Amino acid sequence: MASKQLRAPGSKPGENMLWGGRFTGGLDPLMVSYNESIYFDCKLYAQDIDGSVAWARANHNVGILTADEFSAIESGFKKVKEEWESGTFKIVPGVDEDIHTANERRLGEIIGKDIGGKLHTGRSRNEQVATDMRLWLRDELRKIEGYLVDFLKVTAARAEKEIDHIMPGYTHLQRAQPIRWSHWMLSYGTAFASDLERLREVIARVNQSPLGAGALAGNCFGLDRQAMAEELGFDGLLWNSMAAVSSRDFVVEAMQWGSMLMLHMSRWAEDLIIYSTGEFAYVRLADAYSTGSSLMPQKKNPDSLELLRGKAGRAFGQVSGLMMTVKGLPSTYNKDLQESLEPMLDHVKTVADSIRIATGVLSTLAINPAMMKASLDPFMLATDLADYLVKKGVPFRETHHISGQCVAFSEKTGKPMNEMTHEDFQGIDTRFGKDVLKCFDYEVSVEQHSAQGGTARKSVLEQVEVMKKILG
Ligand code: ARG
Repeated sequence: MASKQLRAPGSKPGENMLWGGRFTGGLDPLMVSYNESIYFDCKLYAQDIDGSVAWARANHNVGILTADEFSAIESGFKKVKEEWESGTFKIVPGVDEDIHTANERRLGEIIGKDIGGKLHTGRSRNEQVATDMRLWLRDELRKIEGYLVDFLKVTAARAEKEIDHIMPGYTHLQRAQPIRWSHWMLSYGTAFASDLERLREVIARVNQSPLGAGALAGNCFGLDRQAMAEELGFDGLLWNSMAAVSSRDFVVEAMQWGSMLMLHMSRWAEDLIIYSTGEFAYVRLADAYSTGSSLMPQKKNPDSLELLRGKAGRAFGQVSGLMMTVKGLPSTYNKDLQESLEPMLDHVKTVADSIRIATGVLSTLAINPAMMKASLDPFMLATDLADYLVKKGVPFRETHHISGQCVAFSEKTGKPMNEMTHEDFQGIDTRFGKDVLKCFDYEVSVEQHSAQGGTARKSVLEQVEVMKKILG
């Protein structure tokens, strides 16, 4: 079906399409919108222009373009970029299929088709889109790296400042052993610091240049790929032209990375959601990161944390979706690959926003150390009691049993374990000395775990230092 909407006024069917020479019938209007990516890949306009300028320069260097032609292209693109920046670039519906065609169409209008038409010599949109996406992703991941560093700085600063506060540590969401509040923060800080290290590796792999790979077979005009890569700030070249245009591994890997980060984020958020309930009340979210209920006036809901938890699902969905799109594709470029753009754009925004929200939440979070302390239970020191006897030379298997008997005694008599007398302990095992009562001090307990990575003040401060080193 030939349709008027698809053509610029006065043109023949297919005439304005980049590949129009061979196509005369025009496209189903729905096919036009189904096929086009301009309304989302226009986000990559700057990368597309920078890539094209580097391309034109390389073509000039091998004599395909004269110096005048190159400078016309360069200054023409400057104008195109300004139009995008000022919001005056006019997308021509039905003609500007994607950002590559749109930029080239506009360049031709500005500098004339004779010169503009030389730009695409030896080039394919297959290498162009891979280049644009890598440049964009590299820059966004670098921003994310900065956000993550900020978040970890807040974590480290709070961990240092609030090191005195002791709270219950949980396993199975049951009170297990006393820990420092700082230790809790650093438990996630450690996971996020690993994310940071991984991110730096991902960025290095993303930042490799496909330019010069052609449609699949490389470039036949002897272009200096290295020079183009350097101009665009790439760290190196992708060495196989087919792999360069067929791969979206860099998008998958970035999203796998983001998924791991969001996985950590969702658990961090879940802990804080629990700690912010009335029942726990260890923390209180700032108003800036909570909302009220439209019905219940007393409510203050941890929406920011719930969204962090919820958006993790969205992030995972995008990566599995793309993996399903790419799996089983024949080599090399197939239009299916266009489906990698939207998840990438959305994933990156989700992750970037989430880290910044988490930083806001953490830097404004109020803590309630009295509630943390009130939730400590002497039973949480039952292990310390067993360890006490170990230090007296009793085998741990035996001490575990004896400490269990003390717990049972306390439960049966209703006497909290820290109120049991020396005689009570002696009645259970004669090896208990008077100093056993010293076990029932939470501060002593956390200080006893002084091996590296534990809850003792010096161990916690050491963790802060380790983390700071990773931040660089
Ligand atoms: N818009 C396309 C994409 O995002 C650009 C590449 C088109 N290549 C082609 N051979 N049709 O993947």
